[in-house]
Amino acid sequence: MSPVARRPRLVAGNWKMHKTGVEGATLAHELAALLGARPQCTVVVCPPFVALDSVRGALRGSAIALGAQNLHPEPRGAFTGEISGPMLAAAGCRYVIVGHSERRHGMGEDDALVARKLRAARRDGLTPIVCVGETLSERDQGLTADVLVRQIRGAYEGLSPAEAQETVVAYEPVWAIGTGRVATPEQARDAHRIIRATLDRVVAPGAGAKMCILYGGSVNADSAPGLFADPEIDGALVGGASLEAAAFFRVVAAAAAAIAPV
Ligand code: PGA
Repeated sequence: MSPVARRPRLVAGNWKMHKTGVEGATLAHELAALLGARPQCTVVVCPPFVALDSVRGALRGSAIALGAQNLHPEPRGAFTGEISGPMLAAAGCRYVIVGHSERRHGMGEDDALVARKLRAARRDGLTPIVCVGETLSERDQGLTADVLVRQIRGAYEGLSPAEAQETVVAYEPVWAIGTGRVATPEQARDAHRIIRATLDRVVAPGAGAKMCILYGGSVNADSAPGLFADPEIDGALVGGASLEAAAFFRVVAAAAAAIAPV
């Protein structure tokens, strides 16, 4: 398939609760060596908080950006065990994941908290990667669109088009995360279209077309080319396949291969 011109590409690795500081630095060194100084799309890695510093050191001189997996909405205060946006920015982060399903469903985060975290990230100079997606039972009941509209509305209501554009959305169907059951490009495309149409309604007409929307859920080197061939899919949020440098590199290479040279 020939490359097509479109929105800038982004591939982010969500390391979840994997890699110590030493292990993370090793992986970051390997990735930096594979990707070279100028990868053809934006590449972000999101290590655990305690590995941020050593990964930052290992990424020095590379174009790979650092992200975190979560933040507290307040900038400081008596919140035992939490980490704030200013702390992440000072640790070298440029991105932060908010509303991941493992936090929505595993840690009870609701749409209102996700909205506060999105705004906190922007306040603190971080680009939020805002995760949305339906569970299997919601999909089976035909509720996918309802869930996506509710989650996008909850997160983006009140944002200006310029503010929204400085965020990234990740469509992550819960049934595809860590299961090996990747969404088909058609399923991902349909969801991305619903998300863009909702952004048009909630933010401003035309806002959806300008947004970078990633797909996430069991993305690997085999599934990535088919997903990235669809112009609705601007990149990926990668979990398991981001824990090994060669596997993650192949996903990034697939994203870059789908970009038209300018
Ligand atoms: P996975 O995780 O690629 O291991 O399915 C993706 C995610 O949760 O962001």
